[in-house]
Amino acid sequence: MRPGTLQLQSLPPLSLYVHLPWCLKKCPYCDFNSHEWMANAGADEPLPEARYLDALRADLEASLPLIWGRPVHSVFIGGGTPSLFSPAAIDRLLGDIRSLVRLDADAEITLEANPGTFEKDRFRAFHKAGVTRLSIGVQSFNDQHLKALGRVHNADQAMSAVEEAARSFETFNLDIMYALPGQSLAQCEKDIRTALSFSPPHISIYHLTLEPNTYFAKYPPALPQEDDAWDMLDLITEATGSAGLERYEVSAYARGGHRCWHNTNYWQFGDYLGIGAGAHSKLSFAHRIGRPVRVRDPRLYMDRAIAGDAVVSAEEVARKELPFEFMLNALRLRDGFTLQQFSERTGLPLSSIEVALQKAQDQGFVTVESSQVKPTIRGFDFLSDLQTLFLAD
Ligand SMILES: C[S@@+](CC[C@H](N)C(=O)[O-])C[C@H]1O[C@@H](n2cnc3c(N)ncnc32)[C@H](O)[C@@H]1O
Ligand code: SF4
Repeated sequence: MRPGTLQLQSLPPLSLYVHLPWCLKKCPYCDFNSHEWMANAGADEPLPEARYLDALRADLEASLPLIWGRPVHSVFIGGGTPSLFSPAAIDRLLGDIRSLVRLDADAEITLEANPGTFEKDRFRAFHKAGVTRLSIGVQSFNDQHLKALGRVHNADQAMSAVEEAARSFETFNLDIMYALPGQSLAQCEKDIRTALSFSPPHISIYHLTLEPNTYFAKYPPALPQEDDAWDMLDLITEATGSAGLERYEVSAYARGGHRCWHNTNYWQFGDYLGIGAGAHSKLSFAHRIGRPVRVRDPRLYMDRAIAGDAVVSAEEVARKELPFEFMLNALRLRDGFTLQQFSERTGLPLSSIEVALQKAQDQGFVTVESSQVKPTIRGFDFLSDLQTLFLAD
């Protein structure tokens, strides 16, 4: 293995991400690697669960030399719509993972689920298969907005899915989006109050963004004005705070003890191995940090992973790009990071961020107290301006 120029004294915690790439229908705003199953197969053709699981197992086996001996602290099964996979398939997947890697006994194991009726009926069985945390893609509790977002579920289904998640899991997350087509402040408030009425341990609340290469980018819907979206965010911050949820990351709100370990590890610039179609990884070694990527197309992925060849690129993060890459993650956290963490995770000396950090302080974007760097409220509001200060010249 070619040595690099970094000096990592120790390796960060390691997580495992598993991508399941199919959905019933592609949402017009979505730029994730998700593919309509029905569009590619006959309506009665079942998902190729067994073959995809074979591919994931082969993919993980082929990756083992990159993570030898390292314990895995969390697994995140994301998509796509992982809840389209049967509980038996998820059971086999987790069995395969446990047999191949050192999964911590108390590892957090999250599965993303859509709130359709047949999926809801599987929640308990997912829990039995070993999933410890469910993340439900609610998006909104308003039928008109769900329709505008091209979602296949309605508000009633969303509510009964959340009730079932609360019955089946000790911890769960609701994904909600705001600044939706035609959404008023009052409608946003109703969505948030409905979400909070279920006392969720965790909510992720995202501003709807028009991503390039999506249907919405080509045919943009009428969205709320920027000022209105800011008012919505103020309302969200206030309502979640009063309900006892702490905004610990730009888009993530949690009760004590319910922060998402897996995502926090990303934000703290920890390591993750991503397996599955199009999955990205970040893996550290003593002198370099690599970012392998798997082939995107699910069918090609299955063929190539089974042949032991799923990786299409394995670029190394350039030394000069590391400060910005670190800040893209760490500055999303309310608690920020310690200067020691920066050196540990990037293998770079503190001198590499000295000038930018001073500028960030001068502009009121961060505070630095006993080596803890924290974004201020202003830093959170102008996060991309703050992060840009750390871009290489
Ligand atoms: C990996 S996605 C998919 C999870 C699940 N398939 C679903 O859609 O419900 C995770 C979350 O990202 C958010 N998201 C996806 N596209 C977005 C966009 N264009 N703007 C803002 N949030 C988005 C949604 O809240 C979504 O639940
Ligand atoms: S269900 Fe989720 S992953 Fe699938 S297309 Fe919609 S937003 Fe994307």
